[in-house]
Amino acid sequence: MTTTYTFLGHAVHAIETGGHKLLIDPFLEGNPQAAAKADEIAADYILVSHGHADHIGDSIAIAQRTGAQIICNAEIFEWLYRQGIENVHEQHIGGGYQHPFGHLKFTHAQHGSSLPDGSYGGNPAGFLLTTNDNKRIYLACDTGFYSDMALHGEDGLDLAVLPIGDNYTMGPKDALRAVKLLSPKHVVPCHYNTFPVIQQDAEAWAAQVRAQSTATPHVLKPGESLTL
Ligand code: NI
Ligand code: MN
Repeated sequence: MTTTYTFLGHAVHAIETGGHKLLIDPFLEGNPQAAAKADEIAADYILVSHGHADHIGDSIAIAQRTGAQIICNAEIFEWLYRQGIENVHEQHIGGGYQHPFGHLKFTHAQHGSSLPDGSYGGNPAGFLLTTNDNKRIYLACDTGFYSDMALHGEDGLDLAVLPIGDNYTMGPKDALRAVKLLSPKHVVPCHYNTFPVIQQDAEAWAAQVRAQSTATPHVLKPGESLTL
């Protein structure tokens, strides 16, 4: 059994574990970095961290085409239900659940979560995933830095995926602080260079991570993967 993480551009992620295909925040249509097409990508599960358009993205269209189950908070669940999407598992911050692909816990995220039509999207989340082959992955999703992130790394992390773009989320300096608190084996930066206000030098950030922490950074181009 293997677990593979793939960066699909901006803050779109795919994880394949034990034959299950997870898609996280599938904003593909209109995403200048997208390494996949919304009308072609495969998914068994779609995880939605919050309601912003660059995260909920093409979730509905992909769920309708593939039959994938959407996993999101209670407020986004209500919004999806009103649009006829019924294969949804709702969770909320601090809550974990044993899914067929592994244990998924919703973590706190310091951000907003309104939906594209202005509907209330509840609180935004990050994800802490423990796969069935015992790989632990933390997807911070859109968040500012908070020191309790240290707690997400307490049981060890094989991979942390962190935003470094600044402006909307943690910037490089705070993302480096997060790496030091989380102590993951591997770290991948995301949510940068998609728009003019989030331009960053990811290689320079990776060099700082290498020099100042025990984590191994991987600056993945959209479409590139990391096998854990
Ligand atoms: Ni956002
Ligand atoms: Mn975002």
